[in-house]
Amino acid sequence: MKSKEIRPGVHAVGAIDWDRRLFDALVPLPDGTSYNSYLVCGSEKTALIDTVDPTMQLALFENLGQLGIDRIDYVIANHAEPDHSGTLPWVLKKHPEATVLASLKCREMLCNLLPIPEEKIRTVGDGETASLGDRTLEFIYMPWVHWPETMVTYLREERILFSCDFFGAHLATADLYVSDKGKVTEAVKRYYAAIMMPFRSNIRRHLERLRGYEIDTIAPSHGPLHDHPEYIVDTYSGWVSETPTNSAIVLYVSMHGSTMKMVEHLGGALVREGVIVSQFDLTAVDVGELASALVDAATVVIATPTVLGGAHPLSANAAFLVNALRPKTRFLSVIGSFGWGGRTVEQLTGMLSSVKAEILEPVLSRGFPGEDDFAALDKLATTIAAKHREGGFL
Ligand code: FEO
Repeated sequence: MKSKEIRPGVHAVGAIDWDRRLFDALVPLPDGTSYNSYLVCGSEKTALIDTVDPTMQLALFENLGQLGIDRIDYVIANHAEPDHSGTLPWVLKKHPEATVLASLKCREMLCNLLPIPEEKIRTVGDGETASLGDRTLEFIYMPWVHWPETMVTYLREERILFSCDFFGAHLATADLYVSDKGKVTEAVKRYYAAIMMPFRSNIRRHLERLRGYEIDTIAPSHGPLHDHPEYIVDTYSGWVSETPTNSAIVLYVSMHGSTMKMVEHLGGALVREGVIVSQFDLTAVDVGELASALVDAATVVIATPTVLGGAHPLSANAAFLVNALRPKTRFLSVIGSFGWGGRTVEQLTGMLSSVKAEILEPVLSRGFPGEDDFAALDKLATTIAAKHREGGFL
């Protein structure tokens, strides 16, 4: 990518990674990603805000070269994760005059992660500013957006918030600003779901604090910039609220069709009760899509056969993921078939202890489900709908 002007003297100089297909060795990236880095030139000093993933460092240096930048006074490290800080050692090698500005925690983490001498990093406090001459950068601590050291940087005179991962999306696009609102919103939600959802109470606080700032542009470190920030701030506020929607998601794996039959029956019964249902086949699930569905779901049902005396490993994997993401889900249940016995329900519910949800009566069928099992599934659907109604979601 070539650098792009956001305002006179403020440029996007990061890299677009069109081909990356996996993040954290876990989350598929169907649309690639970008590592956004920003250059802010003041009348006296120049600052680089975040760097790029080390695999894309050439793009950053080419962009800086095209702008004729031969001096960088400050490198702002909003976040220590290597997709943004990983190129710092090379930036400091090329620009030994630069000082890194970071939160206290970020300084410690950068020194643990990267070969950077501690004395190159100056700690900035929450609310502290750095003057570039005619422009001012304000540093706002936002710990636990998903790591403990994170801050965002506000360019006062231009009302630009450099928000790092916050409001970001894994989306490679040539557009500087959001152009396809639906697609970007989906990508931002997917990003939020996969790494930030467990920290939503902190994010609620951060959103409240940001409402005290006049923001014309949000410039995140992944995906396009938001030139109508109120839309994405309001949308985020819905995701981080503790009120789910009238949706139930069924995560299923079936070996010989018995559990599948139960899933189909429960799905049909839930639809008849007026509950919105999504089903995810755990043999082929996209973790990002599943995480996205968990953002609003009031109910999660795990459907699994009993194998080797317990839950199918794919269902255990799903339970582990749901537990780690700690969604706002209010109700959980387990359904599935078994041959002669096992500890499926205890195993799965035991793995979901971090989700503060009520466990609804599981339905297990010995072999292929019969009339009693279908009746129990109907009852489960009725219970879920009633619980949604009581909660005001249906
Ligand atoms: Fe995009 Fe938390 O790093």
